[in-house]
Amino acid sequence: GSQQQKGVRMILIGPPGAGKGTQAPKILERFNNCVCHLATGDMLREQVTQGTDLGKQAKQIMDQGGLVPDEIMINMIKDQLENNSSCRGGFILDGFPRTTPQAEKLDEMLKSKSQKLDHAVELKINDSLLISRITGRLIHPASGRSYHKEFRYVHVNTLLTEEELICVVFFSPPKKPMKDDITGEPLIQRSDDNAETLKKRLGTYHAQTAAVSGYYRKQGIWCKCSALEPDVRLLTFSSTPTAPVDASQAPDVVWSSISAIFEQKKEK
Ligand code: AP5
Repeated sequence: GSQQQKGVRMILIGPPGAGKGTQAPKILERFNNCVCHLATGDMLREQVTQGTDLGKQAKQIMDQGGLVPDEIMINMIKDQLENNSSCRGGFILDGFPRTTPQAEKLDEMLKSKSQKLDHAVELKINDSLLISRITGRLIHPASGRSYHKEFRYVHVNTLLTEEELICVVFFSPPKKPMKDDITGEPLIQRSDDNAETLKKRLGTYHAQTAAVSGYYRKQGIWCKCSALEPDVRLLTFSSTPTAPVDASQAPDVVWSSISAIFEQKKEK
């Protein structure tokens, strides 16, 4: 109905590096910033920065790739949904729920307000592609903008013609090394963005969070989108490129498939 165009209540599910934090701002814009974006990882890192007791406890868990206890996370979200006025029009939950009990509690919370979720969107991607995304990720903490240390090319195939078929993994490095493009402020690397912790985060995801998809699938609000594009695109070059390819014109296929979900629902 028309309500759908104004706001949305949805969650983003996906392994570390799938692009939840990359896509959420686009969804916000799609809904004219009238919904809130709650990223539980960002909220926890804020606590770490402030040096609170919760922050101290959370840092240890996060650096080990584990999950912060359900009760803490549920209360954190509950507090936001009840008291954050920017959540009035709806919300995008990014990183929550991560366990079935968290999903159940969220349902209870919404039910008590006669609300329900519109969509649970899962970003699907192969684990092996996440390693380079995460270990090279650079973040501008104040804005949440993320970059990548490098651009790079991976050869997949040599074609039948004289042209080489190259599989391009597109990353966006900052214009100046380790500096935010817009403010010039330094970029940082998250302490859990190393290969070892990532392996544990992926393990935790498959052991505990993957079940959350099944939970929403049963409710009929689950849909999956490939999180692969546009980083791996097949492009043809007559020789190996020596400078970054301008990928800004590349279609953002991930966003196209997410936004299509909202359009489908609208037509009903
Ligand atoms: P959290 O902060 O949620 O981390 P995460 O789930 O591991 O997700 P990331 O932020 O790493 O990845 P993302 O999907 O947002 O990817 P991004 O868009 O940045 O959680 C951290 C920790 O907090 C957890 O491990 C846990 O301990 C704790 N926690 C949080 N919530 C909890 C909960 N509910 N319960 C219990 N514990 C909780 O993209 C990654 C990179 O890839 C970027 O460099 C980006 O530029 C690039 N990129 C994105 N999309 C593409 C694309 N299509 N092509 C090429 N590059 C791309």
